[in-house]
Amino acid sequence: MKWICSVSLAVSLAIQPAFAEDLFGPHALTPEARDAFVTQLLKKMTLDEKIGQLRLISVGPDNPKEAIREMIKHGQVGAIFNTVTRPDIRAMQDQVMQLSRLKIPLFFAYDVIHGQRTVFPIPLGLASSWDLDAVAQVGRISAYEAADDGLNMTWAPMVDVSREPRWGRVSEGFGEDTYLTAEMGRTLVKSMQGKSPADRYSVMTSVKHFALYGAVEGGRDYNTVDMSPQRMFQDYLPPYKASLDAGSGGVMVALNSINGVPATADSWLLKDLLRKQWKFKGITISDHGAIKELIKHGVASDPQDAVRIALKSGVDMSMSDEFYSKYLPGLVKSGAVSEQEIDDAARHVLNVKYDMGLFNDPYSHLGPKGSDPVDTNAESRLHRPEARDVARKSIVLLKNRLETLPLKKAGTIAVIGPLADSQRDIMGSWSAAGVIKQSVTLLQGIKNVAADKATILYAKGANVTDNKGIQDFLNIYEKAVTVDPRPPQQMLDEAVATAKKADVVVVAVGEAQGMAHEASSRSDITIPPSQLALLRALKATGKPLVIVLMNGRPLALVSEDQYADAMLETWFSGTEGGNAIADVLFGDYNPSGKLPVSFPRSVGQIPIYYNHLPTGRPYNFEKPNKYTSHYYDAANGPLYPFGYGLSYTRFTVSPVTLSANTLTRNGSINASVKVTNIGQRDGATVVQLYLHDQTASISRPVKELKGFKRIMLKAGESQTVTFPIDVNALKFWNQQMQQVAEPGKFDVMIGLDSVRTQNTEFSYQ
Ligand code: BGC
Repeated sequence: MKWICSVSLAVSLAIQPAFAEDLFGPHALTPEARDAFVTQLLKKMTLDEKIGQLRLISVGPDNPKEAIREMIKHGQVGAIFNTVTRPDIRAMQDQVMQLSRLKIPLFFAYDVIHGQRTVFPIPLGLASSWDLDAVAQVGRISAYEAADDGLNMTWAPMVDVSREPRWGRVSEGFGEDTYLTAEMGRTLVKSMQGKSPADRYSVMTSVKHFALYGAVEGGRDYNTVDMSPQRMFQDYLPPYKASLDAGSGGVMVALNSINGVPATADSWLLKDLLRKQWKFKGITISDHGAIKELIKHGVASDPQDAVRIALKSGVDMSMSDEFYSKYLPGLVKSGAVSEQEIDDAARHVLNVKYDMGLFNDPYSHLGPKGSDPVDTNAESRLHRPEARDVARKSIVLLKNRLETLPLKKAGTIAVIGPLADSQRDIMGSWSAAGVIKQSVTLLQGIKNVAADKATILYAKGANVTDNKGIQDFLNIYEKAVTVDPRPPQQMLDEAVATAKKADVVVVAVGEAQGMAHEASSRSDITIPPSQLALLRALKATGKPLVIVLMNGRPLALVSEDQYADAMLETWFSGTEGGNAIADVLFGDYNPSGKLPVSFPRSVGQIPIYYNHLPTGRPYNFEKPNKYTSHYYDAANGPLYPFGYGLSYTRFTVSPVTLSANTLTRNGSINASVKVTNIGQRDGATVVQLYLHDQTASISRPVKELKGFKRIMLKAGESQTVTFPIDVNALKFWNQQMQQVAEPGKFDVMIGLDSVRTQNTEFSYQ
């Protein structure tokens, strides 16, 4: 990669001979060198130039390229987002180098959430793989493709723990569990940033949304969060902390309020916790429009007040800035904001630019002009085999009655459903620069895998929804859902006739891409009635029914579970989704995914999560008692629990053995089980370790995930899996908000999901 850097540096020098050599050149990428460099640079900057660094601008109708050119010329832009091709990015960086006084390079950011050109499964799907190597590969490829497009930063990972299936953004996170989410966040930060965010094919991450966005009341997007300090520190904050400890250079601030204070105005969160306690040195970025929204939150009286509060609370960069540039100069003049506060924020921005290597080479992620791809969307830029492999690993087998699956590549297969041949929906939300036409639908995947041996029939069967209001909502900005104008009954009749000709029916149902997204909260998490009617009609044919779910949140699937002979949760599986699902359907890949989130039976059960606290009156379904904690009008417990997922083979787990029955403060004990594949096929599974503090000074969850290991076993093979347990796994935040491990007895539970476990106990002294 060395030649690219030197050539591009030569290009930039040629553009601007007066290139300030005391500022630009090879700099050691160390914190000490950086601090000295930034201190010098700040001395050369005017107040307006420093404020310019705090502005993050998106090209769009409000900001055409010409307007941005003017801003860049006057040093009024710090970074750009939503520009994703090398020629466009290069043009803007050229403007800095040619027109601005100090030539401080811009950085370029984008929402690279589950891939850039190649789209991988949505994060909830990635979490279902429980495979950190696969997730690291997604991180590396996403960073490679993003950096190859000239980007320096991504607005990811989103590590908002959520127990709220109504929230559309549950799709962007890693589910309900703190430990699993922290592992996913850490892995993505490390893999995307690589050895250094300055490397040619790395990008800097920006962990979001700080903090607690996943706990919005009622799952209604942008709503309030109210939470005890214990729950905050125990359950919701650790994934952000883990991502920062892994080195994330950025933090995006959440849109919600926390205990009455909007995160954007929360100096405790952004200064005391993030900077002082956690020692964060990178940048904080407001979310879109969040500074202005302080007025609607009712904590700022007008835009100027909002700017003052945000800056003083610790928001460095203003996304889609309207007001920092307008009001900060006056606020400094009046003394309401000090120049030191502006310097601090500007320093953070310059720090990350330094860490991105932009002062060594502003074109480091662009290369020489002639090297730009001829076709940005070229097929050759994709990583299809890797996408197919990860997508297969993210699929969860929920049901398989009488071994309906795997299917034979023979006879006649009816592929039905509004999502069976939809290239857009399978990509999921935030599919970055992914090209819809490059995705493989389920129908295409089945044809690719089996068309030479089996007859494949197709019928759409229903629209995703017949609700005009929801159709309009989904199509509000673009034609995202194509509504088949035929009467619903005609579509059903066609599907039933198709099913009758087949030996087996594979039906793809669930949500359209836009149903699980930002601002897509639902009060009802069932499959829409048009699709349910289709399932009922297909069930009535008596043909074996395989339901392939595509969705971005846990759904309430009680009827579907009854109708299905087999059911696969495939989430939104990305560019290679159709091929990956076909691999699982036909047994070319033995499913191994496990749910990272509990599936409720109905919306009325929410919140439902496996690691809840005990009550004084726990419900026991074997001995039901009126005065216990339960719903009398529904079955209790989730339909599918956290950690659950079947395989085409069967595994047994031996009783747990401990290396010692007592754990001491500085010691460690090992908990081991022997896992055996007793079926006929090779397969992978995920061994999960849960702990429970039997008696403590405050109630502790009935169980908490503390370790997991994905293993591959050949038919008949066994493997001993060992989890080391030390005091860190026992710690919690007590009533005085001290993080402690209290002496006493702990249950150890090990299994292949969160319910069926082998149990033993040890003492901590
Ligand atoms: C979202 C962020 C996203 C940003 C930029 C906002 O609306 O909340 O998650 O990174 O837009 O696209």
